[in-house]
Amino acid sequence: MKSILITGGAGFIGNHVVRLFVNKYHDYQIVNLDKLTYAGNLENLEDIHDKDNYTFVKGDICDAPFIDDLFIKYQFEGVIHLAAESHVDRSIADPLAFVNTNVLGTVNLLNSANAAWKEDMDGKRFYHVSTDEVYGSLGSEGFFLEDTPYDPQSPYSASKASSDHFVRAYANTYKLPVVISNCSNNYGPNQFPEKLLPLCINNIKHNKPLPIYGKGENIRDWLFVVDHARAIDDIYHKGIIGSTYNVGGFNEWKNIDIVRLLCDIMDRKLGRPKDKSKELITFVKDRAGHDMRYAIDANKIKNDLGWEPSLQFEEGLEKTVDWYLENTEWLEHVTSGSYQDYYDKQYKA
Ligand code: NAD
Ligand code: TYD
Repeated sequence: MKSILITGGAGFIGNHVVRLFVNKYHDYQIVNLDKLTYAGNLENLEDIHDKDNYTFVKGDICDAPFIDDLFIKYQFEGVIHLAAESHVDRSIADPLAFVNTNVLGTVNLLNSANAAWKEDMDGKRFYHVSTDEVYGSLGSEGFFLEDTPYDPQSPYSASKASSDHFVRAYANTYKLPVVISNCSNNYGPNQFPEKLLPLCINNIKHNKPLPIYGKGENIRDWLFVVDHARAIDDIYHKGIIGSTYNVGGFNEWKNIDIVRLLCDIMDRKLGRPKDKSKELITFVKDRAGHDMRYAIDANKIKNDLGWEPSLQFEEGLEKTVDWYLENTEWLEHVTSGSYQDYYDKQYKA
């Protein structure tokens, strides 16, 4: 049996990756290592938690001796590294938390993998999951390619860029077999309601204002999370060692337009009069240093690995809204307790 370490598997993207691997590869032992921060939630994995080829371990990627022991105990052949602090607004409020987890935590993992594999790198693979935000902000033209120079603009993207550089440095210096992907904005079930779409779904449901930063003209390229998990599967198994793959949805939207579309879908599903929820849209103070536009050119992964998004955006958004409306307990659990404190601080007038 192949043993694979997935970090951050209780988070938004991680739980979809863990589910896909556990259900698809019965000859893999999947070890999900997660610290269970505010963003990690074992309720995301209730459907697979008792499968024979799945193990959950609570722990911190910054804890070097603990990670070393884990490599000895499970003899990992591969790592898929997703654990991170992932929200730009939180990185503006507390940059050091992002340096700790995203930079130091990644270097810890690299050290453990290197120590465990250095005598025999054959068949091993360290896959680092990153973001398109490392490339900075685009104007109205152009796309991020794999060789676009890094130009991170927020503490979050600076910490992810730094971690990407360390991964490449370990490949160059120690010949660690690495692969990296940089993906655009994900949406879908199980996303913590601090990010734009689930925050607006939750607020529309409760008739609360929809806070749109600035004029709502910033553009993001949206990808359904299960399609990202499929891309991670393809890159883990077929990606060329030492390569980078950009993953995106070929699907750019202005924030204000995506929120309006969401309002239309929610009004229909909740039986509210047409355009009712749009009255909740409220323009608020812009995010500091707000990146204007992200757009991925995902032709490399499409041409080389045969991956492309499986869902049209409207279909994906409908599925997402349905999931949040059906999973009321999940939403109540994650929005109780400390969520309200975060919300009050972030959106105070
Ligand atoms: P998330 O915030 O939903 O989940 C992060 C997970 O990591 C949580 O389960 C958390 O408990 C865990 N974690 C945090 N610190 C940890 C630590 N020190 N040790 C162990 N576990 C820890 O994030 P996400 O949206 O699922 O993103 C996953 C990865 O994908 C991140 O590396 C992120 O940079 C990248 N990414 C995200 C997006 C996106 O749109 N969400 C897009 C591109 C890339
Ligand atoms: P977000 O979901 O935080 O992802 P990212 O910053 O990583 O792209 O934000 C998506 C876009 O929505 C981004 O341009 C910021 C904007 N936004 C708002 O306008 N209001 C909000 O309350 C949030 C959370 C985001």
